[in-house]
Amino acid sequence: MDIDFTGKVAVVTGAANGIGRATAVAFAKSGAKVVVVDRDAVGGEATAGIIRQQGGEAVFVAADVTKSADVRNYVKTAIDTYGHIDCFFNNAGIEGAWKHTAEYDEDMFDQVIGVNVKGVFLGLRHVLPEMLRQKSGAVVNTASVAGLVATPGMPAYVASKHAVIGLTKTTAGEVARSGIRVNAVCPGPVDTRMIHSLEQQISPDDPASVARRYQAAMPTGRYTTAEEIANMVLFLCSDLAGNITGGQYVVDGGRTATGGAVTQAMER
Ligand SMILES: NC(=O)c1ccc[n+]([C@@H]2O[C@H](COP(=O)([O-])OP(=O)(O)OC[C@H]3O[C@@H](n4cnc5c(N)ncnc54)[C@H](O)[C@@H]3O)[C@@H](O)[C@H]2O)c1
Repeated sequence: MDIDFTGKVAVVTGAANGIGRATAVAFAKSGAKVVVVDRDAVGGEATAGIIRQQGGEAVFVAADVTKSADVRNYVKTAIDTYGHIDCFFNNAGIEGAWKHTAEYDEDMFDQVIGVNVKGVFLGLRHVLPEMLRQKSGAVVNTASVAGLVATPGMPAYVASKHAVIGLTKTTAGEVARSGIRVNAVCPGPVDTRMIHSLEQQISPDDPASVARRYQAAMPTGRYTTAEEIANMVLFLCSDLAGNITGGQYVVDGGRTATGGAVTQAMER
């Protein structure tokens, strides 16, 4: 099964680190030209550098996905540089604080909703018109298993990822007859900065013990890798997924299927 993106253009947000970087690199390895978007300029330039070093083509655009002027600018840069947008990985996100709802800080709630919901909305708002003009395109929004089931201690994050699934279903129906597909990927815990931040917040004195508990509670016994999420994103953006739209695709080592056990293991 070959996935070939030669001649295609992929825009990836949150591409300076973690899942976004792994996916940007995977798109480039499969032949796509990549627009690397992030507010982290050092990491973003590094991702574009890795792609070029491997013989691929990439441009970095600094953007805060919560600001519509920045979003317009990354879309314009993609069109001005490469002429079209075939694949859009709408992925930038933040975890926020680990606190129960009764203690959750209001400003933190706004920040998480701002990046994870408004940022995803703005990406769709400004990329979809280009895809509608082209009458083609594939979008993958990064939700989470936290968009499907509860995670006590992450009220803003869980609300935001449920919202990403709502946006995915809504836009999928709106654009399906125009040759555009919109899906969501739902990672479980992935070995990136984000999961290590949560380990640290849950147990500042012994984050490694949280990592052990989390992984022990996963049927496969380990975190998913960023590259394993990238594999799903590339599949969903490829012609192999030609009639797949409006769906949520879980990549979580079996975690959601065994939710009760996982919830118990995650309790403090
Ligand atoms: N790591 C996990 O366990 C996990 C699980 C499920 C879902 N996710 C989701 O995967 C996505 C990627 O997370 P990751 O694990 O790679 O984390 P990460 O922190 O390594 O990467 C997130 C990237 O998003 C960027 N970003 C954050 N806010 C931004 C903003 N306002 N504008 C532009 N860029 C911004 C960061 O600079 C960073 O490069 C997120 O949406 C996250 O919620 C992660």
